[in-house]
Amino acid sequence: MKNELKQLKEAREARANKNKKGEMIAICSANGGIGRTVMSVNLAVALAKNNMRVCNIDGNFQFGDLCLSMDLRPTFTIKDIVEELDQMDEYALANFLVNHKSGVKILSSPERPEYAELITTTVLEKVYKLLINQFDYLIVDTEAGLQDLSLFYIEKSDEIFLLSTLDMIVMKNTKMMLETFDILGQKEKVRVIVNKSSVDSVIKAADVPEILETDNIFHIPNQPELVLQSLNVGIPFVSNHGKSDLAKAYFKIADQLLSKRKDITTDTKTSSNSILQSIFQKGKAVRSIF
Ligand SMILES: Nc1ncnc2c1ncn2[C@@H]1O[C@H](COP(=O)(O)OP(=O)(O)OP(=O)(O)O)[C@@H](O)[C@H]1O
Ligand SMILES: [Mg+2]
Repeated sequence: MKNELKQLKEAREARANKNKKGEMIAICSANGGIGRTVMSVNLAVALAKNNMRVCNIDGNFQFGDLCLSMDLRPTFTIKDIVEELDQMDEYALANFLVNHKSGVKILSSPERPEYAELITTTVLEKVYKLLINQFDYLIVDTEAGLQDLSLFYIEKSDEIFLLSTLDMIVMKNTKMMLETFDILGQKEKVRVIVNKSSVDSVIKAADVPEILETDNIFHIPNQPELVLQSLNVGIPFVSNHGKSDLAKAYFKIADQLLSKRKDITTDTKTSSNSILQSIFQKGKAVRSIF
């Protein structure tokens, strides 16, 4: 019985840890200018609207524009964290995040490109460990392609959103990136996001599953005026144009993430019940002997 109680306690602790741990989503693309920043910002705000604790990480360490896209001027950036890395704990780290009025927190990239070389995987590892238990979601706007630091996020992430467009060259590179994810053992985590998928193109949205050999695809419509206006004023369109087709696509992705998270929690509860049940069954068996 002592062993069973110990087992129960361990299961409870594991459940608590599992519930506490957030999820990291790496927003990637093979080419630049595909819509990673727009996606990082609007997905983060859509999740925050569902009462999730969300931190947006700007992984473009040379020319990051996440804060600007949200009309924010950062007081601190990841470079300041590097300077105090040894003393950093989760309480200290909270002071280095920028607050957006949606509730989303942002870890800004350095203010100058030359500081990018100060950011190493050691820094990212420590920051990841300190943030992952404080937030429900870490959304990372990674650099285009497969740079070393982007690979850190890709490997650590729970989900990879690989953005593409219907453009021929982008599609070719997305396919190569998918193949590389396969070689790296990361393909299971990938969901392809076809951005601007309603645009008129030689490649049709319906052709994408065959080209990329996957059905795990989500389509986001092309609404250039809305996106441009949103970037120019620094207000995410999910905040002020919630009824647009574009915002609806983002809310749908957020909903899917949330229901997946719910399923995981329910699964964990069920498995802990079965431990309880097994102890109860054994108790019955013990009583029947006496
Ligand atoms: N759904 C959309 N419909 C129309 N235009 C879009 C859409 N999403 C993004 N864009 C446009 O695509 C361009 C690139 O967007 P964004 O800056 O988010 O890309 P990025 O991948 O982060 O680029 P970079 O490689 O420079 O960081 C922007 O001009 C934006 O207006
Ligand atoms: Mg960007």
